[in-house]
Amino acid sequence: MAEADAKPGPDLTRGILLTEIADGAMLVGHVGEEQVLLARSGDDMFAVGAHCSHYHGPLAEGLLVGDTVRCPWHHACFSLRTGEAVRAPALSPIDCWSVEQRGGKVFVTQKRTDTPARRSRPAGREPEKIVIVGGGAAGFAAAEMMRREEFKGSIVMLSNDDASPVDRPNLSKDYLAGNAPEEWIPLRSDDFYAENGIDLRLRAIVVGVDPRARQVSLSDGANISFDRLLLATGAEPVRLSIPGADQAQVHTLRSLADSRAIIARAKQARRAVVIGASFIGLEAAASLRARGIEVHVVAPEKRPMERILGPQMGDFVRSLHEEHGVVFHLEDTPSAIDGRRVTLKSGRPLEADLVVVGVGVRPRLELAEKAGLAVDRGLTVDAFLQTSAPDIFAAGDIARWPDPHSGQAIRVEHWVVAERQGQTAALNMLGVREKFDAVPFFWSQHYDIPINYVGHAEKWDDLAIEGDIAAKDCLLRYKLGGRTLAVASIFRDVASLQAEVAMERATAAR
Ligand SMILES: Cc1cc2nc3c(=O)[nH]c(=O)nc-3n(C[C@H](O)[C@H](O)[C@H](O)COP(=O)(O)OP(=O)(O)OC[C@H]3O[C@@H](n4cnc5c(N)ncnc54)[C@H](O)[C@@H]3O)c2cc1C
Ligand code: FES
Repeated sequence: MAEADAKPGPDLTRGILLTEIADGAMLVGHVGEEQVLLARSGDDMFAVGAHCSHYHGPLAEGLLVGDTVRCPWHHACFSLRTGEAVRAPALSPIDCWSVEQRGGKVFVTQKRTDTPARRSRPAGREPEKIVIVGGGAAGFAAAEMMRREEFKGSIVMLSNDDASPVDRPNLSKDYLAGNAPEEWIPLRSDDFYAENGIDLRLRAIVVGVDPRARQVSLSDGANISFDRLLLATGAEPVRLSIPGADQAQVHTLRSLADSRAIIARAKQARRAVVIGASFIGLEAAASLRARGIEVHVVAPEKRPMERILGPQMGDFVRSLHEEHGVVFHLEDTPSAIDGRRVTLKSGRPLEADLVVVGVGVRPRLELAEKAGLAVDRGLTVDAFLQTSAPDIFAAGDIARWPDPHSGQAIRVEHWVVAERQGQTAALNMLGVREKFDAVPFFWSQHYDIPINYVGHAEKWDDLAIEGDIAAKDCLLRYKLGGRTLAVASIFRDVASLQAEVAMERATAAR
């Protein structure tokens, strides 16, 4: 993005009248060639970079909350005082400028270079050796946070993947559609790990954890000891158990290698069958349509995503995909795959050069189970993300934690939750006692339509719809007993952020 092309708003070095910016307001101006967000919170004025460090979201269209700004697109949160990315999915800070007030005007002066103060940690209890099992969202965010907090001990990150941590959500969206260059995909360059003393070991398969001996064992026979361990093994795609499901043209989608394998086959394919109308299945369908491939979706439910988003949003998602040429075969499932033929239970045959299976995932719990850790449809952790073994923490898709907002122990499969849990677990492994209390958030993207979801509602007795779903401008509130448990929205980003803040405040008040 060429920021130099346009200089929006006023030159903030020349000052603007204080009366031009109300309490709680934000405006975008520039300092030299850079776009700068000026924000007012009470008598405090702040100046930071105007764009989110995650995917460049326009922060002025987000929400000011105290001395932070939240990004409208995927709810990252930045400190206005320091520019620090205090909540994922952004992991890098934004620039921060000094601000002066004189003569009824506010002036943005020079860029600040001071680093934010780190959290205080209890003296004498610092671990020396941290081991992280998993090189995904949670594992990466944990390692990054420990170094950000200036932890000086060793960090070994073990991943059975052959790629360093990647932006997994992109693998079913722009990357699969052919619209994301390779350099967007790694969360950090390879140099980052060496420069930050993170001993990232790829193709390292952990086969055992001994909580008493505080040691993990690898498939090559090596053992690595730890003072604290983070289990962040994520989830794996459920595979079909029908005849032909193991053929080469049948793919699941979790890793960069999976996405590349689908792309390679898509280049020769005329028609694809996507099995499962899950988020990943439908995102893959949209990306394959972007490649000009005919796409058929087969799924047992009556409406896509009805269980999570309700019937109205389900109908919308279906018609959105149909407008883009996707053909649905709902209330049906595949019974066999034979070469280019997928036969459905209804007897209907579908031709396919490529089959993508998106029928859900299963948390990778084998290590935790074998180690004797408490497991209940996920790895059980407490509010500090500590497992039943005191030196072992867990985060991400495997963790079932006591969610203070829903009042339930929940396990979700959301990128932002995994990263934030990784960050909280990191702090707690270093001795900071911080509860994980973030409101769950996920997003999904279908063509040019983003769906954002805040909170967690497994069931509801009232679904209130504000706006117009068909017009792609709506906010849906999922309520139980009068209380809003979750909110889904399309292009109502501020309202979605406000709902998140309301849930935080409601929980804090209880
Ligand atoms: C294609 C795709 C698109 C997605 N899009 C979105 C989205 O738009 N929005 C959203 O909110 N969520 C999305 N998700 C879900 C999100 O990516 C996950 O919730 C998130 O990655 C979970 O993070 P994690 O760290 O728990 O697991 P992962 O990111 O899966 O990482 C787990 C890591 O552990 C490693 N591992 C597992 N077992 C072992 C072992 N025994 N030894 C060594 N290493 C091991 C794996 O190789 C992997 O590196 C998407 C997921 C996929 C697959
Ligand atoms: S662009 Fe800001 S959180 Fe994604």
